[in-house]
Amino acid sequence: MKAKHILMLLIGLIFCSCSKFTGSKQPLYIGDDISPDTTRNVLVAYFSRSGNTEKVAKEIAAHSGGMLYRIERKEPYPEDFKDCAAEAKSELNDSVFPALKDTIADFDKYDVIFVGGPVWWHTTPMPVLSFLRKTGYDFSGKIVIPFCSYANMFPHETLLEIVNATPNSQHPNGFVSEEGDTAGIAQWLYDINLKLK
Ligand SMILES: Cc1cc2nc3c(=O)[nH]c(=O)nc-3n(C[C@H](O)[C@H](O)[C@H](O)COP(=O)(O)O)c2cc1C
Repeated sequence: MKAKHILMLLIGLIFCSCSKFTGSKQPLYIGDDISPDTTRNVLVAYFSRSGNTEKVAKEIAAHSGGMLYRIERKEPYPEDFKDCAAEAKSELNDSVFPALKDTIADFDKYDVIFVGGPVWWHTTPMPVLSFLRKTGYDFSGKIVIPFCSYANMFPHETLLEIVNATPNSQHPNGFVSEEGDTAGIAQWLYDINLKLK
């Protein structure tokens, strides 16, 4: 009986050590052709008003070892939901790219960049597009992975906006989260790692 327990413990230990995503300290690695020891510099850039996308971003960072970066509009949106929604809508309708609060000094060092935000008016909030199009960051050749959180509609169209804004990058499948639900993130990261080249 005792020997059986020891055998089961050994099998468990072997299984755990073979798993590719065993915790937050595991480096993200991409592609079958690259050694699992290859550490990528990962950035997790996100915009979030009420915390849902931030929750998702933090989970991604925990699994990928990525650096979290919060995209913030220089002039904050109104606290009041209705005022915020109205301002976001006119910004979108008029294609206004708002100025952002700060910049990333060492942007070039990142190879893998997760980019996410909530769905606003069926698409990406304009500060995310400012981040992608107006900051002068060069996304070409980088791996850009979109994610978003949403209430009930247009999450995939929103991911596509991020893809379209970075035409010279590689784009693995993104992740959509209903109101900040983080279930499935570890599996998604595992899946895209295997599919990427
Ligand atoms: C101005 C505004 C517009 C929104 N438009 C949509 C929408 O078109 N589709 C949707 O599913 N959710 C929409 N939502 C809901 C948010 O996408 C959802 O609550 C999201 O999880 C919020 O993320 P956050 O907490 O990171 O800000 C909208 C929210 C706001 C504030």
